[in-house]
Amino acid sequence: MFFPEYRARRLRRTEALRRMVRETVLRTDDLIYPMFSAFGQGIKKEIPSMPGIYQQSIEHIVAEAREVYDLGIPAVILFGIPEAKDAVGSDAYSDHGIIQKTIRAIKQAVPQLVVITDVCLCEYTDHGHCGIIKDGDVDNDATLELLAAEALSHAQAGADIVAPSDMMDGRVAAIRARLDANGFAHIPVMSYAVKYASAYYGPFRDAAESTPQFGDRRSYQMDPANRSEAFREAALDVQECADFLMVKPALAYLDILRDLKERFDLPLVAYNVSGEYSMIKAAAANGWVDHDRVMMETLTGMKRAGADLIITYHAKDAARLLGR
Ligand code: PBG
Ligand code: ZN
Repeated sequence: MFFPEYRARRLRRTEALRRMVRETVLRTDDLIYPMFSAFGQGIKKEIPSMPGIYQQSIEHIVAEAREVYDLGIPAVILFGIPEAKDAVGSDAYSDHGIIQKTIRAIKQAVPQLVVITDVCLCEYTDHGHCGIIKDGDVDNDATLELLAAEALSHAQAGADIVAPSDMMDGRVAAIRARLDANGFAHIPVMSYAVKYASAYYGPFRDAAESTPQFGDRRSYQMDPANRSEAFREAALDVQECADFLMVKPALAYLDILRDLKERFDLPLVAYNVSGEYSMIKAAAANGWVDHDRVMMETLTGMKRAGADLIITYHAKDAARLLGR
């Protein structure tokens, strides 16, 4: 193929031709919408750094879940803001916890909507870490017990998929064993397998009120500089029988998405995190970029990199453009 006989522009000449040779197609079916369920009633509080995203009490969450379902989005992922926090995150695995109540309410109102739950302790602990603290650091093995209890409690409340985001070693196996021993062998585990210690989570921590009260998460989340370590983390989760692998954040880690897609056969999820969303919203609000085009280009890039599914705060906006 040489110019001038070969001309690449021939296949770009009209929209019909471009559609015929388009390689990556983003679909509404690929999207998962995150929601923040807050304790109380009549609450609908916009997160200042995340325009369009709210902390909401259950009745508003249910209304939005219905809207999400009507847009054709297949799934939501839930985060909870409990009434009270303590050192061991008790609300996380209480049958009357904020998430357990939210799951039941959504499953009753919109049974067909897939409910995924974030399994972690940071939203429920008063110190804001993802596990329980011993000698100033998160105690891995003691935390596994609580994460397994939390995942089981979500399944008992009706969750369709549990998604551990804590980054403790051995948590997928611990959760799998607990689910299997209690009649929930059919519930998949979506593992936040490769989760980096990222500044892009900033707006989320406002939304979930989960900022660590001392230190940071670098003793359990991954160093953004590492790639081989991502393969080790993913391989461990595959051995522990995870059903999905996730890479998080997405935008600065598209190479890792591509790598994992090529090395592992499990469905791959990209988490288009809060800071990535906020940057697009802020730039668009300033008139610096075209919101819809930058959003779709970003989501398409994640699919092109290898994501099968994308957890994104843009899900509703994208679904409106894509249709069902
Ligand atoms: C909890 C959790 C976090 C996110 C998802 N689950 C925050 C964190 O680890 O600090 C981040 C999501 C986002 O930024 O959109 N472990
Ligand atoms: Zn956490």
